[in-house]
Amino acid sequence: MPRHFLSLLDYTKDELRGLLDRAKWLKKQQKAGKKHHPLEGKTLAMVFEKSSTRTRVSFEVGMYQLGGHALNITSQASQLGRGETYSDTSKVLSRYVDCIMMRTFEQSRIEEVASAASVPVINGLTDLLHPCQIMADMETIEENKGNVSDQKIVWVGDGNNMANTWIQAAILFGFELALACPKGFEPPAIILDKIRSGGYSNIKVFNDASEAVKNADVINTDTWISMGQESDEVEQKKKLFRPFQVNRSLMSHAKKDAIVLHCLPAHRDEELTSEVMDGPNSRVFDQAENRLHAQKAILEKLMG
Ligand code: CP
Ligand code: NVA
Repeated sequence: MPRHFLSLLDYTKDELRGLLDRAKWLKKQQKAGKKHHPLEGKTLAMVFEKSSTRTRVSFEVGMYQLGGHALNITSQASQLGRGETYSDTSKVLSRYVDCIMMRTFEQSRIEEVASAASVPVINGLTDLLHPCQIMADMETIEENKGNVSDQKIVWVGDGNNMANTWIQAAILFGFELALACPKGFEPPAIILDKIRSGGYSNIKVFNDASEAVKNADVINTDTWISMGQESDEVEQKKKLFRPFQVNRSLMSHAKKDAIVLHCLPAHRDEELTSEVMDGPNSRVFDQAENRLHAQKAILEKLMG
Protein backbone atom coordinates (compact mmCIF):
# COMPACT_ATOMS: atom_id res chain seq x y z
CA MET A 1 0.00 0.00 0.00
CA PRO A 2 1.54 3.34 -1.00
CA ARG A 3 1.55 6.21 1.50
CA HIS A 4 -0.86 8.96 0.41
CA PHE A 5 -1.25 12.61 1.41
CA LEU A 6 -5.02 13.02 1.57
CA SER A 7 -5.46 14.61 4.99
CA LEU A 8 -3.09 16.09 7.59
CA LEU A 9 -4.54 13.63 10.09
CA ASP A 10 -2.95 10.75 8.14
CA TYR A 11 0.36 12.05 9.53
CA THR A 12 1.81 12.57 13.00
CA LYS A 13 2.88 15.97 14.24
CA ASP A 14 6.52 14.82 14.03
CA GLU A 15 6.14 13.77 10.41
CA LEU A 16 4.58 17.11 9.47
CA ARG A 17 7.31 18.92 11.42
CA GLY A 18 9.84 16.99 9.32
CA LEU A 19 8.07 18.11 6.12
CA LEU A 20 8.00 21.76 7.24
CA ASP A 21 11.71 21.73 8.07
CA ARG A 22 12.47 20.04 4.77
CA ALA A 23 10.39 22.64 2.90
CA LYS A 24 12.48 25.41 4.48
CA TRP A 25 15.68 23.59 3.52
CA LEU A 26 14.47 23.06 -0.06
CA LYS A 27 13.62 26.76 -0.30
CA LYS A 28 17.14 27.71 0.80
CA GLN A 29 18.69 25.30 -1.71
CA GLN A 30 16.62 26.72 -4.51
CA LYS A 31 17.34 30.34 -3.56
CA ALA A 32 21.06 29.52 -3.50
CA GLY A 33 20.73 28.14 -7.03
CA LYS A 34 21.73 24.62 -5.92
CA LYS A 35 20.42 21.76 -8.01
CA HIS A 36 18.66 18.92 -6.20
CA HIS A 37 17.30 16.11 -8.39
CA PRO A 38 16.08 13.24 -6.19
CA LEU A 39 13.11 12.58 -8.51
CA GLU A 40 15.02 12.11 -11.75
CA GLY A 41 12.99 9.95 -14.12
CA LYS A 42 9.82 10.23 -12.01
CA THR A 43 6.49 11.52 -13.25
CA LEU A 44 3.56 13.12 -11.46
CA ALA A 45 0.06 13.06 -12.97
CA MET A 46 -1.97 16.12 -11.98
CA VAL A 47 -5.70 15.50 -12.30
CA PHE A 48 -7.87 18.62 -12.17
CA GLU A 49 -11.64 18.59 -11.88
CA LYS A 50 -11.66 22.25 -10.76
CA SER A 51 -9.72 25.33 -11.88
CA SER A 52 -6.26 26.14 -10.53
CA THR A 53 -3.37 28.53 -10.96
CA ARG A 54 -1.12 28.03 -7.91
CA THR A 55 -1.59 24.28 -7.43
CA ARG A 56 -1.09 23.52 -11.11
CA VAL A 57 2.00 25.68 -11.53
CA SER A 58 3.68 24.94 -8.20
CA PHE A 59 3.37 21.17 -8.61
CA GLU A 60 4.61 21.25 -12.20
CA VAL A 61 7.53 23.55 -11.42
CA GLY A 62 8.26 21.59 -8.22
CA MET A 63 8.55 18.32 -10.13
CA TYR A 64 10.82 19.96 -12.69
CA GLN A 65 13.08 21.39 -9.97
CA LEU A 66 13.32 17.96 -8.32
CA GLY A 67 14.48 16.46 -11.62
CA GLY A 68 11.14 14.90 -12.55
CA HIS A 69 8.25 15.67 -14.82
CA ALA A 70 4.54 16.48 -14.41
CA LEU A 71 1.60 16.14 -16.72
CA ASN A 72 -1.74 17.87 -16.58
CA ILE A 73 -4.99 15.95 -16.95
CA THR A 74 -8.40 17.59 -16.85
CA SER A 75 -11.69 15.75 -16.65
CA GLN A 76 -12.95 17.44 -19.83
CA ALA A 77 -9.92 16.45 -21.90
CA SER A 78 -9.66 12.91 -20.52
CA GLN A 79 -12.01 9.93 -20.45
CA LEU A 80 -13.04 10.89 -16.90
CA GLY A 81 -15.34 13.40 -18.57
CA ARG A 82 -16.95 10.57 -20.52
CA GLY A 83 -17.57 8.49 -17.44
CA GLU A 84 -14.51 6.25 -17.06
CA THR A 85 -14.56 5.42 -13.36
CA TYR A 86 -12.19 7.01 -10.86
CA SER A 87 -10.91 3.63 -9.86
CA ASP A 88 -10.18 2.48 -13.44
CA THR A 89 -8.51 5.83 -14.19
CA SER A 90 -6.41 5.47 -11.06
CA LYS A 91 -5.31 1.92 -11.94
CA VAL A 92 -4.31 3.02 -15.44
CA LEU A 93 -2.42 6.12 -14.27
CA SER A 94 -0.60 3.97 -11.71
CA ARG A 95 0.88 1.95 -14.61
CA TYR A 96 2.47 5.07 -16.12
CA VAL A 97 3.31 7.52 -13.35
CA ASP A 98 4.95 7.48 -9.92
CA CYS A 99 2.47 9.73 -8.10
CA ILE A 100 -0.98 11.25 -8.66
CA MET A 101 -2.08 14.68 -7.44
CA MET A 102 -5.79 15.31 -7.72
CA ARG A 103 -8.13 18.29 -7.22
CA THR A 104 -11.75 17.27 -7.04
CA PHE A 105 -15.11 17.65 -5.29
CA GLU A 106 -16.08 15.06 -2.61
CA GLN A 107 -13.35 13.68 -0.36
CA SER A 108 -14.75 10.21 -1.15
CA ARG A 109 -13.66 10.67 -4.78
CA ILE A 110 -10.00 11.14 -3.94
CA GLU A 111 -10.28 8.29 -1.45
CA GLU A 112 -11.60 6.07 -4.27
CA VAL A 113 -8.65 7.08 -6.44
CA ALA A 114 -6.23 6.40 -3.58
CA SER A 115 -7.64 3.00 -2.76
CA ALA A 116 -7.32 1.87 -6.39
CA ALA A 117 -3.86 3.40 -6.90
CA SER A 118 -0.61 1.53 -6.59
CA VAL A 119 1.26 4.86 -6.36
CA PRO A 120 0.93 7.69 -3.78
CA VAL A 121 -2.00 10.09 -4.18
CA ILE A 122 -1.84 13.74 -3.04
CA ASN A 123 -4.88 15.87 -2.22
CA GLY A 124 -4.62 19.07 -4.28
CA LEU A 125 -7.94 20.31 -2.77
CA THR A 126 -11.31 18.72 -2.20
CA ASP A 127 -14.56 20.23 -0.93
CA LEU A 128 -13.50 19.03 2.53
CA LEU A 129 -9.74 19.66 2.77
CA HIS A 130 -6.75 21.52 1.31
CA PRO A 131 -3.75 20.00 3.14
CA CYS A 132 -0.96 21.17 0.77
CA GLN A 133 -2.08 24.75 1.25
CA ILE A 134 -1.97 24.55 5.05
CA MET A 135 1.58 23.13 4.90
CA ALA A 136 2.61 26.21 2.89
CA ASP A 137 0.71 28.47 5.30
CA MET A 138 2.44 26.98 8.36
CA GLU A 139 5.79 27.42 6.60
CA THR A 140 4.92 31.09 6.00
CA ILE A 141 3.91 31.57 9.64
CA GLU A 142 7.19 30.05 10.86
CA GLU A 143 9.22 32.31 8.53
CA ASN A 144 7.56 35.34 10.10
CA LYS A 145 6.60 34.40 13.64
CA GLY A 146 8.50 31.34 14.84
CA ASN A 147 7.03 27.99 15.89
CA VAL A 148 3.47 27.58 14.66
CA SER A 149 2.50 25.86 17.93
CA ASP A 150 3.06 29.15 19.82
CA GLN A 151 0.70 31.30 17.74
CA LYS A 152 -2.87 32.44 18.01
CA ILE A 153 -4.27 31.75 14.55
CA VAL A 154 -7.64 33.13 13.51
CA TRP A 155 -9.83 32.01 10.66
CA VAL A 156 -12.35 34.60 9.45
CA GLY A 157 -15.09 33.68 6.97
CA ASP A 158 -16.59 30.52 5.58
CA GLY A 159 -16.25 27.20 7.43
CA ASN A 160 -14.85 25.66 4.25
CA ASN A 161 -12.08 23.26 3.15
CA MET A 162 -9.40 25.70 4.36
CA ALA A 163 -11.05 26.18 7.77
CA ASN A 164 -11.42 22.41 8.15
CA THR A 165 -7.75 21.84 7.40
CA TRP A 166 -6.74 24.55 9.88
CA ILE A 167 -8.73 22.63 12.49
CA GLN A 168 -6.79 19.47 11.65
CA ALA A 169 -3.52 21.39 11.95
CA ALA A 170 -4.58 22.78 15.35
CA ILE A 171 -5.44 19.25 16.54
CA LEU A 172 -1.92 18.13 15.63
CA PHE A 173 0.17 21.20 16.53
CA GLY A 174 -1.87 22.40 19.53
CA PHE A 175 -1.89 26.11 18.62
CA GLU A 176 -4.77 28.35 19.62
CA LEU A 177 -7.26 28.50 16.74
CA ALA A 178 -10.27 30.81 16.75
CA LEU A 179 -12.70 30.52 13.86
CA ALA A 180 -15.18 33.30 13.13
CA CYS A 181 -17.93 32.20 10.77
CA PRO A 182 -21.43 33.53 10.13
CA LYS A 183 -24.17 31.46 11.79
CA GLY A 184 -24.94 28.48 9.57
CA PHE A 185 -21.52 28.64 7.85
CA GLU A 186 -19.43 27.01 10.57
CA PRO A 187 -17.34 23.95 9.59
CA PRO A 188 -19.36 20.77 9.00
CA ALA A 189 -20.40 18.39 11.79
CA ILE A 190 -17.86 15.74 10.71
CA ILE A 191 -15.09 18.24 11.58
CA LEU A 192 -16.70 19.87 14.65
CA ASP A 193 -17.46 16.46 16.20
CA LYS A 194 -13.76 15.69 16.08
CA ILE A 195 -13.06 18.82 18.20
CA ARG A 196 -15.78 17.87 20.71
CA SER A 197 -14.87 14.20 21.00
CA GLY A 198 -11.16 14.95 21.32
CA GLY A 199 -11.70 17.73 23.88
CA TYR A 200 -9.49 20.15 21.96
CA SER A 201 -9.96 23.27 24.07
CA ASN A 202 -7.40 25.15 21.92
CA ILE A 203 -10.00 25.35 19.10
CA LYS A 204 -13.01 27.69 19.42
CA VAL A 205 -15.74 28.70 16.99
CA PHE A 206 -17.25 32.22 17.15
CA ASN A 207 -19.95 34.04 15.20
CA ASP A 208 -18.33 37.41 15.86
CA ALA A 209 -15.20 38.32 13.92
CA SER A 210 -13.80 41.01 16.24
CA GLU A 211 -14.10 38.73 19.26
CA ALA A 212 -12.20 35.93 17.49
CA VAL A 213 -9.50 38.25 16.16
CA LYS A 214 -8.56 39.62 19.62
CA ASN A 215 -4.83 39.24 20.19
CA ALA A 216 -4.30 37.30 16.94
CA ASP A 217 -0.80 36.60 15.59
CA VAL A 218 -2.16 35.36 12.26
CA ILE A 219 -5.40 36.23 10.47
CA ASN A 220 -6.55 34.02 7.63
CA THR A 221 -9.39 34.40 5.24
CA ASP A 222 -10.60 32.94 1.96
CA THR A 223 -13.32 33.40 -0.64
CA TRP A 224 -16.90 33.37 0.67
CA ILE A 225 -17.95 31.19 -2.26
CA SER A 226 -15.77 28.17 -2.91
CA MET A 227 -15.46 26.33 -6.20
CA GLY A 228 -18.56 24.28 -6.80
CA GLN A 229 -20.72 26.48 -4.54
CA GLU A 230 -21.62 29.10 -7.14
CA SER A 231 -25.32 28.94 -6.32
CA ASP A 232 -28.16 31.44 -6.83
CA GLU A 233 -27.88 32.81 -3.29
CA VAL A 234 -24.52 34.47 -3.90
CA GLU A 235 -25.74 38.04 -3.32
CA GLN A 236 -27.54 37.05 -0.10
CA LYS A 237 -24.45 35.22 1.11
CA LYS A 238 -22.23 38.23 0.40
CA LYS A 239 -24.49 40.41 2.58
CA LEU A 240 -24.36 37.92 5.42
CA PHE A 241 -20.56 37.66 5.21
CA ARG A 242 -19.98 41.43 5.07
CA PRO A 243 -19.18 41.73 8.84
CA PHE A 244 -16.49 39.06 8.27
CA GLN A 245 -14.45 41.15 5.85
CA VAL A 246 -10.78 41.44 6.85
CA ASN A 247 -10.25 45.20 6.79
CA ARG A 248 -8.40 47.87 8.74
CA SER A 249 -11.07 48.04 11.43
CA LEU A 250 -11.03 44.26 12.05
CA MET A 251 -7.23 44.28 12.05
CA SER A 252 -7.24 46.79 14.93
CA HIS A 253 -8.34 43.97 17.29
CA ALA A 254 -5.33 41.80 16.41
CA LYS A 255 -1.73 42.21 17.56
CA LYS A 256 -0.08 45.11 15.79
CA ASP A 257 2.37 42.83 14.01
CA ALA A 258 -0.20 40.16 13.09
CA ILE A 259 0.27 38.74 9.62
CA VAL A 260 -2.57 38.28 7.14
CA LEU A 261 -2.87 35.19 4.98
CA HIS A 262 -5.19 34.26 2.11
CA CYS A 263 -4.68 31.11 0.05
CA LEU A 264 -5.77 33.06 -3.09
CA PRO A 265 -7.43 33.66 -5.46
CA ALA A 266 -8.82 36.68 -3.57
CA HIS A 267 -11.98 38.56 -4.35
CA ARG A 268 -10.49 41.93 -3.60
CA ASP A 269 -12.66 44.17 -1.42
CA GLU A 270 -15.01 41.33 -0.60
CA GLU A 271 -13.42 39.01 2.01
CA LEU A 272 -10.26 41.13 2.19
CA THR A 273 -9.75 44.81 1.40
CA SER A 274 -7.05 45.70 -1.11
CA GLU A 275 -5.66 48.03 1.55
CA VAL A 276 -4.93 45.06 3.85
CA MET A 277 -3.96 42.66 1.08
CA ASP A 278 -1.36 45.08 -0.29
CA GLY A 279 -0.45 46.44 3.16
CA PRO A 280 2.52 45.78 5.46
CA ASN A 281 0.89 42.91 7.41
CA SER A 282 0.05 40.85 4.33
CA ARG A 283 2.13 37.80 3.44
CA VAL A 284 -0.17 36.40 0.76
CA PHE A 285 2.40 36.26 -2.02
CA ASP A 286 5.07 34.62 0.16
CA GLN A 287 2.35 32.16 1.11
CA ALA A 288 1.63 31.46 -2.57
CA GLU A 289 5.37 30.96 -3.23
CA ASN A 290 5.63 28.55 -0.32
CA ARG A 291 3.22 26.17 -2.03
CA LEU A 292 6.20 25.27 -4.22
CA HIS A 293 8.59 24.52 -1.36
CA ALA A 294 6.06 22.74 0.87
CA GLN A 295 4.91 20.51 -1.98
CA LYS A 296 8.46 19.67 -3.02
CA ALA A 297 8.95 18.30 0.50
CA ILE A 298 5.77 16.21 0.14
CA LEU A 299 6.73 14.95 -3.34
CA GLU A 300 10.20 14.01 -2.12
CA LYS A 301 8.79 12.14 0.88
CA LEU A 302 6.25 10.18 -1.17
CA MET A 303 8.45 9.41 -4.18
CA GLY A 304 12.05 9.90 -3.05
N1 CP B 1 -4.66 28.41 -3.32
C1 CP B 1 -4.86 27.60 -4.37
O1 CP B 1 -5.03 26.39 -4.23
O2 CP B 1 -4.85 28.24 -5.56
P1 CP B 1 -5.28 27.65 -6.98
O3 CP B 1 -6.79 27.42 -6.91
O4 CP B 1 -4.92 28.70 -7.97
O5 CP B 1 -4.57 26.36 -7.21
N1 NVA C 1 -12.03 27.52 -0.50
C1 NVA C 1 -11.54 27.77 -1.83
C2 NVA C 1 -10.06 27.59 -1.89
C3 NVA C 1 -9.46 27.87 -3.23
C4 NVA C 1 -7.98 27.62 -3.28
C5 NVA C 1 -12.23 26.85 -2.81
O1 NVA C 1 -12.39 25.67 -2.52
O2 NVA C 1 -12.64 27.32 -3.87
